[in-house]
Amino acid sequence: MTTILTYGTFDLFHFGHVRLFARLAGKGDRLIVGVSTDAFNARKGKAAFFSYQQRVEMVRACRYVDQVIPERHWDQKADDILKYGVDIFAMGDDWRGHFDHLGVHCRVLYLPRTETVSTTSIKSSLAGALPVEHG
Ligand code: CTP
Repeated sequence: MTTILTYGTFDLFHFGHVRLFARLAGKGDRLIVGVSTDAFNARKGKAAFFSYQQRVEMVRACRYVDQVIPERHWDQKADDILKYGVDIFAMGDDWRGHFDHLGVHCRVLYLPRTETVSTTSIKSSLAGALPVEHG
């Protein structure tokens, strides 16, 4: 059995996330997704629109995902790889090079991101589309 592990915030769950999961699921038998907790995001200076529990609910509902785990800090990845018997650690290629050190435990892959969509761009578009408040 081939187990794949990836991490992310997955806020405003979008088709770029789905396509990443679809491609990862195609590389093995079990896809585990680490979802960043709100406390971890706060430490990164990042604020998600949806709460950790809401993001977990959406990621878990995706048919490519077999298991969701919390991502609480930067240094848990090696432990998770060993704990879950991970064969492939994978991230989008915006993270290229960042996790090469995990190659001592398993294969490390960086997949091309889906172009034209990101949580940040959705937030910007929606912010621009909102009516101006009068008052
Ligand atoms: N991802 C992807 N294609 C996209 C957007 C994200 O493959 N269009 C991947 C990222 O490379 C990462 C994972 O999805 O491995 C989680 O990314 P996340 O940061 O949660 O999503 P983004 O849309 O990139 O959010 P943000 O704009 O806040 O960085």
